[in-house]
Amino acid sequence: MDLILKNGFVVDSANNFEGVADVLIDKGKIVKCAPDIEESADKIIDCSGRTVIPGLCDMHVHFRDPGQTHKEDIITGCEAAAAGGVTAVACMPNTTPPVDNAEVVMYILNKARKAKAKVYPIGCITKGMKGEELCDYEELRKAGCVAVSDDGKPVLNARIMARAMVKAHYAGLRVISHCEDPDIIAGGIMNSGAVSKELGVKGMHRMSEDTQTAREIVMAGDLEMPIHIAHVSTATSMLLVRLGARYGTMVTSETCPHYFTLTDEKLRLRDADYRMNPPLRTEDDVTAITEAVCDGTIDCIVTDHAPHTAEEKADFEKAPNGVVGLETSLAATLTELYHRGKISLRRIVKLMCVNPRRILNIPGGSFSEGEPADIAIFDPNEEWIVDPDKLHSKSHNTCFKGMKLKGRVKMTILNGNVVYEDK
Ligand code: DOR
Ligand code: ZN
Repeated sequence: MDLILKNGFVVDSANNFEGVADVLIDKGKIVKCAPDIEESADKIIDCSGRTVIPGLCDMHVHFRDPGQTHKEDIITGCEAAAAGGVTAVACMPNTTPPVDNAEVVMYILNKARKAKAKVYPIGCITKGMKGEELCDYEELRKAGCVAVSDDGKPVLNARIMARAMVKAHYAGLRVISHCEDPDIIAGGIMNSGAVSKELGVKGMHRMSEDTQTAREIVMAGDLEMPIHIAHVSTATSMLLVRLGARYGTMVTSETCPHYFTLTDEKLRLRDADYRMNPPLRTEDDVTAITEAVCDGTIDCIVTDHAPHTAEEKADFEKAPNGVVGLETSLAATLTELYHRGKISLRRIVKLMCVNPRRILNIPGGSFSEGEPADIAIFDPNEEWIVDPDKLHSKSHNTCFKGMKLKGRVKMTILNGNVVYEDK
């Protein structure tokens, strides 16, 4: 046997197991997870005092490769992933060129072969993300895509979106919808509310997100087709997802740690590192999103890891939207939800490891025999302060900068090999 992880506190939600156990690994796969395994192995790692979970799957990241590799490339993006305990990422297609044909998919998968995480490309819903002509979903799936999305942009035409939902479903791909009505945004740069008014900057009204979320859920219900709602940020959108799911619509959804941690009060700093799309909202939204994460209405926690350069982020009003998140997502979730007694580790593992893989139909997420040995090992109690300069990502635009987080990734294992170690 190649490796044994001894005496860690294993949380294996998919198998309903939680407790101190050993994990035996051979040839990159899980052989067994049980207390007091007697077999010997070439390498033994003592995990006492640490929590051992399946590697995280972040189903919403933006690696800028191809096209803007000065912000991030597939290799550095996966280094950031490994440092965050993330062993699988699904990367959004708003690259240059966009991922609307097999050739770009093949470029990504080829480059990802040497990366420290598994990369699953998401293809575009429409050619060039123009919202007009559907991509060839059979071609995208055969090339290796696991979902389709025009993330960063909405598909404005409802008829085109309806056709996309049906065609993608029959090609075996989930549609991930970025819910935004740009006519309502009309140049807004932060949540529209008391803070934007005081600052005198143009707001992004919440109905921009809510109207589109409502449309997607209504269409998914009427068509009897699945839909996945990306980065939910408002209380009303949350309610719509809850309602849809309650009445049998095949709706799944995700949110990001910043939406249950921070509010638009942060924007008072006039710092573009707190700007993303959708924007940080209000305390009521944070409460609603937190509830929905904890009660299971939201299926996944993702990062929307969106690297941008310091130069671009220097101008509060002109900077592009987006924040990096891969290296802080587990720690921020532990700090905000677990250490405050709002959520169990089991549910965190469901949200960050099991559900994203189920939605995308990709392997892993448990310690069952034969699963890939993709594992995150963390110290739930270690406190650290987020220093943007210490991130592995090429870009440092984190909205958690300077915050003290509790919970730190100590080691990440991919196919049985250590790809990250916190020393
Ligand atoms: O803040 C965001 N940044 N939201 C998106 O939807 C796109 C992303 C990006 O690509 O930078
Ligand atoms: Zn995104």
